[in-house]
Amino acid sequence: MLLTRMVQLNQKKISSMNSFSNRIVNWYKKNGRHDLPWRKNISPYSIWISEIMLQQTQVKTVIPYFNKFIEKYPDLEALIQASEDEILAQWSGLGFYRRAKNIYKACRMINENFNNKLPTNINDLESLPGIGRSTAGAIMSIAFNEGHPILDANVKRVLGRYKKISFKTENEKQKKLWLISEKLTPNKRSFEYTQGIMDLGATHCSKSKPNCDVCPVSNDCYSAFEEVTNNISLKKAIQKPTVKLNFILPHTKNEILMHKKQAPEYWESLWIPIDGNEVKIKGTQRYSKIKVNHPLSHLNLDMKIKAFEIDKKYDLDSNLEYKWIKKSKVNEYAMPTPIKKVVSAL
Ligand code: ADE
Repeated sequence: MLLTRMVQLNQKKISSMNSFSNRIVNWYKKNGRHDLPWRKNISPYSIWISEIMLQQTQVKTVIPYFNKFIEKYPDLEALIQASEDEILAQWSGLGFYRRAKNIYKACRMINENFNNKLPTNINDLESLPGIGRSTAGAIMSIAFNEGHPILDANVKRVLGRYKKISFKTENEKQKKLWLISEKLTPNKRSFEYTQGIMDLGATHCSKSKPNCDVCPVSNDCYSAFEEVTNNISLKKAIQKPTVKLNFILPHTKNEILMHKKQAPEYWESLWIPIDGNEVKIKGTQRYSKIKVNHPLSHLNLDMKIKAFEIDKKYDLDSNLEYKWIKKSKVNEYAMPTPIKKVVSAL
């Protein structure tokens, strides 16, 4: 109780001198990750692409994909010319491919409704596929320096600890955190504040080992210097279902038979081997059998792939969308990482 009272008094004192946002801004200026590639040559376009890539993927994984993407599509004009397949091919290996499909769909809307420019207001941004409230807030704050709250996983952790909120349901937690984010987000210096709170969450205010000694907001944080309990998240504890897949992978000396997946449950629109239950291989060729287990966010895939070497390619007696892809051109197609590995080794 005494501690709570002390923190409250501290918060009052500090808010009049050096607000939460001021301290985050000053900390960012000195300690922010200024070298991240999307923090150089900033444009609304590059911020949009980086924020989408960073939605479900860690910074260090995103960096090479972002660099390659911007090299291939340096501006919105270039991206608007790209097909969905081409965007998916650039995304190959990054996962959560719906994001790439949404970028393609957003380009169509930007072309039709927004005169080939990324919208500059939050409501229009949020109308684009793949851009939710937090991503729109990040784009407005970073690209246009206009203060809008954000609430990604890192920011949730920082704010949740700072105010030590209590909640009964995830829904209640989410609502409370948005209110806190709204209250603490400043109208000025949003560029520094937003990236600062993201960086603080990713560095000092980490999940398992927060370093409160060096945190700029620890002296009025309700959770400062508390031991972190090992709360295994419910998500991780829930067993994911396993899907068994029996693929066939006929290949000639120079080409591989692949199919463009249509069903949306996973890997939608990516190139994968043919389902051996749907299409039978002709004759009784010898094959090598490859086993691969691959976890997705919501499923585990347990794959058996029979790779046949055959003399000549042939037409399939099937309605599947398929193609004999040149082995030398595999990198031009969007393929899930485990499939690309198998195919590249043939
Ligand atoms: N996570 C989400 N957006 C980010 C950004 N702009 N910089 C670093 N990490 C992020």
